[in-house]
Amino acid sequence: MVKQTLRLIKARQSAADEQFERDMGNATNIAIERRLSCLIAPQYADFDFATFQNLDLSGNQMGMSKQMQSYASDIELSGYHSVLLSGQPGRGKTGLAFCTLREIIISGKRAEYVLWRDLIAQVQSTYSTDEDSQAIIEKYASAEFLFLDDLGLMTKANVSDDYLDRTEYLIERRLLAKLPTMITSNLDINGLWSQFSERLAGRINDNYARLIVTGKDLRK
Ligand SMILES: Nc1ncnc2c1ncn2[C@@H]1O[C@H](COP(=O)(O)OP(=O)(O)OP(=O)(O)O)[C@@H](O)[C@H]1O
Ligand SMILES: [Mg+2]
Repeated sequence: MVKQTLRLIKARQSAADEQFERDMGNATNIAIERRLSCLIAPQYADFDFATFQNLDLSGNQMGMSKQMQSYASDIELSGYHSVLLSGQPGRGKTGLAFCTLREIIISGKRAEYVLWRDLIAQVQSTYSTDEDSQAIIEKYASAEFLFLDDLGLMTKANVSDDYLDRTEYLIERRLLAKLPTMITSNLDINGLWSQFSERLAGRINDNYARLIVTGKDLRK
């Protein structure tokens, strides 16, 4: 009788534990799904490495896809801490970077995405309100992983020194904190040197893997 009761208690306990594990798993999945839909731009939402590799690729697009896939699956093991993906328009930089971001979010890292132009616009909007511009930079400076899209698309004439300083500060802060960053840009290191500064280009040159995506324009 006692044995039977004990068995019943044990069975109930293990059913409760299993339910708890399932609930936790579901909660994590919901949190990840929400994060993905918040961060991945809608036009890239259905893309992954498989859909990229099924495109009519040329140049080094397939090789770049494989390299980004290995970076996404284990940043530390890939040997790259941070990545600058450069190349001409339509080569697949943003698409590859979103596939990478997706994997990193799924792995549970607290990641952020921002289009560089939007970051500048967010900072600019604080000039006419009470909002703290530093808080905006802080959010991206402290994220466990950051995807900064389309760095340097404006001409120097359009970007005040303040924005350039803030961009430098953001990149510098992340390097100091050893937080990985993935940047896409039409500019290579020389272009960043002339549009930003020797300091910013030097930091990226010394600390980022610099990958240049070649091949045809995937939009054509
Ligand atoms: N993972 C993917 N799966 C399927 N199609 C993709 C994927 N990534 C990119 N593409 C296709 O390739 C096109 C160009 O890709 P993408 O926007 O990444 O280019 P880009 O190099 O970032 O260009 P730009 O320099 O203009 O920002 C996309 O509009 C999309 O049609
Ligand atoms: Mg792009």
